[in-house]
Amino acid sequence: MATIKLLPDLLINQIAAGEVVERPASVLKEVLENSIDAGAQKINVQLLQGGLKQIRVTDDGSGIAKDELILALTRHSTSKISTLEDLHRIASLGFRGEALASIAAVSRLTLASCQQSDKSDNYAWQVDVDGQSTLQIIPSSLSCGTALTVNDLFFNIPARRKFLKSEATEFSHCDEVFKRIALSAPSIEFLLQHNGKTKRLLHSVSSIQRISDILGEEFSQHAVLVDEQSDALHLHGMVALPAYARSSRDAQYFFVNQRYVSDKLISHALREAYRDILHLDRYPAFVLFLQIDPENVDVNVHPTKTEVRFREARAVHQFIFHAINKALSAPASQQSQSPNTVITDANKNSTYANNVRSLAKHSSYPLSRNSSSSRQLFQPQQLYGSFNDTVNSHVLRSVLPEQKPVGLVTEIQSKDTLDFPLPENQQNFPMGFALGQLQGIYILAQNAHGLIVVDMHAAHERIMYEKLKHALDRQAIPTQSLLIPVTFHASSVEISLVEQNTDLLEQLGFEMTLFSPTALTVRKIPAMLGDADIVTLAHELLKEIDDYGASQVLTARRNETLATLACHGAVRANRQLTIEEMNQLLREIESTERADQCNHGRPTWFEITLAQLDKMFMRGK
Ligand SMILES: Nc1ncnc2c1ncn2[C@@H]1O[C@H](COP(=O)(O)OP(=O)(O)O)[C@@H](O)[C@H]1O
Ligand SMILES: [Mg+2]
Repeated sequence: MATIKLLPDLLINQIAAGEVVERPASVLKEVLENSIDAGAQKINVQLLQGGLKQIRVTDDGSGIAKDELILALTRHSTSKISTLEDLHRIASLGFRGEALASIAAVSRLTLASCQQSDKSDNYAWQVDVDGQSTLQIIPSSLSCGTALTVNDLFFNIPARRKFLKSEATEFSHCDEVFKRIALSAPSIEFLLQHNGKTKRLLHSVSSIQRISDILGEEFSQHAVLVDEQSDALHLHGMVALPAYARSSRDAQYFFVNQRYVSDKLISHALREAYRDILHLDRYPAFVLFLQIDPENVDVNVHPTKTEVRFREARAVHQFIFHAINKALSAPASQQSQSPNTVITDANKNSTYANNVRSLAKHSSYPLSRNSSSSRQLFQPQQLYGSFNDTVNSHVLRSVLPEQKPVGLVTEIQSKDTLDFPLPENQQNFPMGFALGQLQGIYILAQNAHGLIVVDMHAAHERIMYEKLKHALDRQAIPTQSLLIPVTFHASSVEISLVEQNTDLLEQLGFEMTLFSPTALTVRKIPAMLGDADIVTLAHELLKEIDDYGASQVLTARRNETLATLACHGAVRANRQLTIEEMNQLLREIESTERADQCNHGRPTWFEITLAQLDKMFMRGK
């Protein structure tokens, strides 16, 4: 073996650079963090060739004293902490004192600075390094603040240079870092230029406005505000509703005390909060800021400081989960803005505008669809159990329609409409009042702002699902005995499942018995599923038990099971509803948690405001 010797400083720094400096974007991150720590109010970033050629960051922060310039570039030198206690309560972004030294070891660097309150002089000084340790301080021309220029990253480490990607890719990484930093510090003014062109110019604004500046109007308009405070924690920001969910993690920003983090615990809490309303292959979009006492979080976990360790991880997880869950489940009537407001400019080629146009085009279509009602003749008359168990149930019962398929003409029941004038306090009914049914699929309603279009099946499905969940939580799913029990042919597997799972079925509101060795009888079902095709429902439920095991159906698979039931119980397309029933559904949407999206994360309703309609028809132009 070779003899052991102490490595030269330059090599030590180059090794350390391996941890923090991976590509231009990692340099940019460290340098921007330094500017923020220096209290800058204005930060300019200039990149050449994706940062491969040059990264230059200028700030108007506190600056560095002439005699500390060289120290700043030396490993383990920092102005941010000095004792172990400090390490346990980090308030700055930096603290390891190694970024500048590492960057200097793998690039040609110039650090120029002019300290704001320099007693001796107000001159700027600079030091140039090119991977070597020949450091000389020379005068510079710079107004107060600091300018760091990093040229030719990895010029002296060809092996690392090989791993760098194209100019465009490296720029996109830099832009991502820039976005994170800009989100974290909305009061700071930022400029990003690439190859002489301005890419982003951000003024000093509120954090909500900055979110919109960075993620775009569309995000903001599909997102709800979060602002949750506990004794020790404060979480604020915006989370997008499922309709805005992405196919990748590209719009997920979480900050702990202003530091962007990508942390498993936090991701898990968010994932859980969205679990019920987001399709598995979709990713939620959010920008969230968590404020926590620095003593309760360890940021010294990873050299790049993107992971953190919470002292009370469980409590933090719970807090985040509940805050997001609450924000996402606020019923429409409580959300500050309608999440489903159609925000696209009607003049643009938006899907919404297209839809409306195509509806207009096809208005000569007969108002019917091929309506072969699949309902069985002998099903009980309880058609709208789920609607019935709220306020107007007696009214509803008396007006329940005979089961009839939508005829050639869907009656827009003008008489009913007249009978239901809009009440004075329209604001209390954000979903408005029904006008009629469109193509057997959508309910049209008017509210104080304009038109509401509801996907009848999707909305009903969601409401049933939430109701089933609550009922099951209380161990009290209301059941309904069938007037005429339904008997159907069953496989031997299904028969043995029924024999073994009487209790489970009962908990879910079903009573099934053996009719013969090859047939089962359904005698009781959950009252709110009265509209379902009972045979299909029974097969589906038994399949669920067979596929996942009885123990899972009420635990891990509970929500999926209930979703299956809800889907079967929800009102089918082509069911003709009366105006009262439609209004009942609208009221239920208003009072149901998460009614704005169906169980698959699709929206259940949209609002088209009068202003948007006016625009579409070019009124007032
Ligand atoms: N833009 C800047 N403005 C003022 N001081 C700076 C700036 N950049 C770096 N410094 C000084 O240089 C020191 C070393 O920076 P760095 O190597 O990034 O370590 P750290 O940020 O962990 O302290 C900082 O502690 C700070 O005092
Ligand atoms: Mg630093």
